[in-house]
Amino acid sequence: MKRPIVASNWKLYKDFSEAQSFLKSLKSAVMAAELEQHFLFFPPAIHFGLFQKEGLKFGLQNAHTELEGAFTGENSAAGAKSYGATHLLIGHSERRQYFQETDATCNKKLALALSVGLIPVLCIGETLSEREAGSTNSVLERQLLGALNTFIGDAKKLAGLIVAYEPVWAIGTGKVATPEQVESAHSLIRGWLLSKLSGSVAPTISILYGGSVKPENAAELSRLPSVDGFLIGSASLKIDSIEGIFRAALK
Ligand code: PGA
Repeated sequence: MKRPIVASNWKLYKDFSEAQSFLKSLKSAVMAAELEQHFLFFPPAIHFGLFQKEGLKFGLQNAHTELEGAFTGENSAAGAKSYGATHLLIGHSERRQYFQETDATCNKKLALALSVGLIPVLCIGETLSEREAGSTNSVLERQLLGALNTFIGDAKKLAGLIVAYEPVWAIGTGKVATPEQVESAHSLIRGWLLSKLSGSVAPTISILYGGSVKPENAAELSRLPSVDGFLIGSASLKIDSIEGIFRAALK
């Protein structure tokens, strides 16, 4: 793995004291330069002040499609940026499943992220029934096109974008995709990016794998040339496991 990105998705976990003691322990387990270079966190937005104070790289798990307005309970991409956030997670399968996020809303959020200077992390992945029906590739292509179509003519805006391949059946289930499945999906994604975007942009896009990544499977997945890092849910909540994944990814 040339440039391992270890991205943590905390979802709706950790209160203030849990978050505070986690960051303290992480800082004693991982060197500051390593944290700065490789780690990215998606905590609940209520913890942004803590991450800002600790000088860690963090992003927003979701943003409203509008920059501001009377939308009680929503988070603003511009507001997150003003607190020091650098990234925006878009299209996570839990957002697609529970909050009606579509390819069209992903496209809007991508445009919004770019307009305020946040790096989009676009999540795509097939469900189990789509895989069993043999439609994994067409689902991934549909999700890529749906989110990125308005940028194809102006692809340089997408430089530095991150795509996370997260098969829905592997998220939070303990079932990890096999190296062959990961390699096949990542090559499809890379091929799509190379064919649709101008030559200099596609290579700047990192492709992460997510779905039940653990220290025990991270080493094997890290050896795949198409994997640039991981998006980690449950294993990112514990110091031992996030550190174990990071060490495996560095090898
Ligand atoms: P998991 O979650 O690692 O718990 O499977 C991954 C994700 O939701 O991004």
